[in-house]
Amino acid sequence: MASFRRYLANDSISGKLLTLLISVTVSLVLIACGALTITTYLISKEYNITQPLHQIEALFGNPVLITYLLESPETSKPFLANLSSLTSLQSLNILDANKTSLLSYQNTESQPELSTEQSQLAVYLPQKKQTVTLVLAAKPSLSNVLVLAIHIAILAIIATAGLICILAIRRVKHIIIHPILHLIEQAHTISDYDNYNVRATKFNNDEIGILATSFNKMLNKVQARDQQLINAKDQAEKASQQAQTLALETQRTNKKLALEVQVRTHIEQKLTDLKKYLSDIIDSMPSALIAIEQSQHIQQWNKQASTLFGITESDACGKSVYGVITCLKKHQDTISKALALNQAQTIEKVAIKHPSQEVHYFDIVVYPLTYSASANNSSKKGAVIRLDDITQRLFIEEAIVQNEKMISVGGLAAGMAHEINNPLGGIVHNAQNIQRRLSPSLIKNQELAARLHIDIQSLNQYLEERGISRFLNNIQDAGQRASKIVNNMLQFSRRSNRVLQPTQLNTLITRTLEIAHSDLAIKQSIELNTIKIRTYFDPLLDKVPCISNEIEQVLLNLIKNAAYAIHQRSSPLTEGLINIKTERKEQQALIIVEDNGVGMTADVRTRIFEPFFTTKEVGSGTGLGLSVSYFIITNNHKGQMQVRSTPTEGTRFTISLPLAASIAA
Ligand SMILES: Nc1ncnc2c1ncn2[C@@H]1O[C@H](COP(=O)(O)OP(=O)(O)O)[C@@H](O)[C@H]1O
Ligand SMILES: [Mg+2]
Repeated sequence: MASFRRYLANDSISGKLLTLLISVTVSLVLIACGALTITTYLISKEYNITQPLHQIEALFGNPVLITYLLESPETSKPFLANLSSLTSLQSLNILDANKTSLLSYQNTESQPELSTEQSQLAVYLPQKKQTVTLVLAAKPSLSNVLVLAIHIAILAIIATAGLICILAIRRVKHIIIHPILHLIEQAHTISDYDNYNVRATKFNNDEIGILATSFNKMLNKVQARDQQLINAKDQAEKASQQAQTLALETQRTNKKLALEVQVRTHIEQKLTDLKKYLSDIIDSMPSALIAIEQSQHIQQWNKQASTLFGITESDACGKSVYGVITCLKKHQDTISKALALNQAQTIEKVAIKHPSQEVHYFDIVVYPLTYSASANNSSKKGAVIRLDDITQRLFIEEAIVQNEKMISVGGLAAGMAHEINNPLGGIVHNAQNIQRRLSPSLIKNQELAARLHIDIQSLNQYLEERGISRFLNNIQDAGQRASKIVNNMLQFSRRSNRVLQPTQLNTLITRTLEIAHSDLAIKQSIELNTIKIRTYFDPLLDKVPCISNEIEQVLLNLIKNAAYAIHQRSSPLTEGLINIKTERKEQQALIIVEDNGVGMTADVRTRIFEPFFTTKEVGSGTGLGLSVSYFIITNNHKGQMQVRSTPTEGTRFTISLPLAASIAA
């Protein structure tokens, strides 16, 4: 049974169905046959269906019964009378060994039958110790017909069942097995050939049909998935190809980038060099250059600007230009105008105090950055402020003007001096003669007075008392002063033929200072400690070709003027100071005389070298000191004389003498 079950479990569905159908059919047939037999039996029983012969035989074959029946007719008679109920029994005969009837019974109630069944049964009777033969005749029993009918019915049932089974099998095959096999076949096609295009046919709307639909749906999904997978694979392949291409491109780009980096590094280096070079150029400019942004904050600040304002680039950058250069505040409008109109603006002659406290003059030009402005990049808009120190140029210009003036005025003065010299000489000479000829000490005067009877003493007394002698003295003094002036004036035209002698400037200055000490005003000032004179001699300065007494005269002039200027200070807070320095500068020997006196206004400064220009009261200054000094330096020594002066702060005279030896004056 177990092996059958195993076989059944492993059998194909069609096999299983076949087995099931056959089993069901056989069971149904058996049940039907059983039911038929039972029904037949019950029916035969109900309707007294005749017993078959062998049953009667078994009933009467009993030796005891036979012995009893054979005892006497009386005993057998009631028994036999009751046999009529056995409708199927037609006759009963008991024969002895000689075939003689011992008992005979004929069923009269029994319908005669066309055919009868006969049986003979030998029965040994132990009581009689003889063997008798029981001969029975019975109707052909109805049960046989019934059995035949049953057999026919069974056969019909089997045949019908077989037919039904065949039909069922065919139907089952058609509606179950065929779709299942179809499904299996499709599944095989799919699994063996990976062909997802096949679809299961839906034969019926049963579970297999649903299964086919689901199978198809699943296939659709699988196919879609497969397609997706294929697509994904394609995409992945494409992506991989792209990745490869990209990798190649990246490699190429990397190479390019590396090259670009190299080039950029190179360019950067070049730019750095260029920047440095430009900074060098900007720094080496003699002008102070300051780049400002639109907001007027400093962006760049060159070396000259650092020197000029004493502020480093890092300190200046990023700050407002007006905060760093306060003197530009009053020119803010001009700078803003340059930025607004995009036009260069110039501010001339701006005085700026140097960190060394010297005042320098500057021309300031504001150049707007035209490129950045045109590029419309307001963040890059700005300007460059150029400050040119024009102090030296101004001095030179002043010196040129001065020179021109000195040449013309000097010539004029010299001419005048010549003209005045003779009449002046006459005046002085004649005054001298008058004094001499009035003198009582001269014998010639005494003789003439005696001859004319004049008391020369009385005459002198008269002259004295009338003040004529004083007048004469005044004429004498004025004449001498005038002749001094004239002599000075004559210096303008005099061509000195004296050769310049190499002279130790330091010694010369020391000697001049000694002479200056004898000057009354200076002497007093020094003694009263109101003026201090300091000297700074350059040890590198050797002998300088010059005419020593002329240089002495110049120095004396300068010291006297300085002392005067110091005295002119209204409320001096510091002591008066005169510094005298010597310095060697290239092929020049410099003598610097500076004081902290009242200083000069620009008007005065431009005129000081003019002959007769003086700010002193009439009588106390001739106005010739500086003009003569200038003439001595420029004409006789081929040097230069410059002045720098700031009102209330002081004055500095700088004399430069060429060191080239033996210059003929
Ligand atoms: N050191 C000085 N400080 C200020 N002013 C000076 C100085 N030296 C010269 N001056 C001015 O120059 C003028 C001309 O000087 P100078 O030619 O020596 O003539 P004087 O001394 O007779 O006036 C002076 O009157 C004075 O105004
Ligand atoms: Mg003077």
